[in-house]
Amino acid sequence: VKTETGKMVLEAAIDAGVYVPYLCYHPGMKSYGACRMCVVSVEGQRGFPAACTLPVAEGMKVQTESKDVNELRRSVMEMLIAEHPNGCLTCHRIDICGPTNVCLRHVSVNDRCVTCPKNERCELKDTVRYLGMNLESPLQYKYRQIPLEVADPFYDRDYNLCIVCARCVRACEELRGDDAIGMTERSGQALVGTSFGTSLLESGCEFCGACIDVCPVGALVERDNKWDKPRKVERT
Ligand code: SF4
Ligand code: SF4
Ligand code: SF4
Ligand code: FES
Repeated sequence: VKTETGKMVLEAAIDAGVYVPYLCYHPGMKSYGACRMCVVSVEGQRGFPAACTLPVAEGMKVQTESKDVNELRRSVMEMLIAEHPNGCLTCHRIDICGPTNVCLRHVSVNDRCVTCPKNERCELKDTVRYLGMNLESPLQYKYRQIPLEVADPFYDRDYNLCIVCARCVRACEELRGDDAIGMTERSGQALVGTSFGTSLLESGCEFCGACIDVCPVGALVERDNKWDKPRKVERT
C-alpha cells in the first residue's frame, strides 16, 4: 500500500480500500484510540496495536485479518456489548425478524434492533455482523437504566445505547468549537452527557447536528428523522 508520511495505518487502509473495523475513529476527526476494535498485528512487533493510532512506516508489514486479531476483536466486542442490548445482535435471525415476530430468545420488544431508530444504519450492528458473532444464546447484558432525554428540541438521547466512543464529544469540540457535551461519569463508569446533567439547550448546544452525524449507534437521534431508513439496503 502506498501512502503518505504522517498517516495512521487505519487511514492508509481506508484510502486503499482495505476494511478494518473501527468504532471510535471517524474520518475527519483526530484519532482517539479508545475502542480497540481496529487492532492489527505488525511483523516484528509484539502485541496488537490499534491501527487508528499507529503511524505508517516504510516497509511496514501489517496484518489486518488473522485468527488472533479476529479473536481479540471479538473479545473486545463482547465487553462492549455487555452493556448494550445484544439479544438480536448475536442472533442468526437478525435479518429476518420483524417487531411482531415471536422471539426465539425472549428478547423484549424494546431491546430488539428492529425497534431501534438506528436499525439498518448502525455501525455497531454492522461490526458485530462482520465479526461473525452468531451465538447460541445471548450474552449477559446489564441495562443501565438511564432515563431517556426527550425534553430538548430536535434531539432524543438514549444513553443506554451509548458505547462511549466519544465521537459526539470530539465532534462538538473539534468540528464546532463548542463544549455542550463532554465526558461524564456514572457510578464510576465513563459516559457522555452535559456537564451538570442539564438539558442540551441549557448547556449551550446549538443543535448543529455534528454529534448526531457521527454517533455510530441509536444513542443520539434527530427526532424528526428518527425512523428514516436508507433508501436501499445492500447486504453482501
Ligand atoms: S427478535 Fe429474537 S429471534 Fe428475532 S433477531 Fe432478535 S433475538 Fe433473534
Ligand atoms: S444501536 Fe444498533 S445494535 Fe443497538 S439496538 Fe440499535 S440497531 Fe441494534
Ligand atoms: S452518544 Fe453516540 S457518539 Fe456519543 S459517545 Fe455515545 S455512542 Fe459515541
Ligand atoms: S477505532 Fe481504533 S481504537 Fe477505536
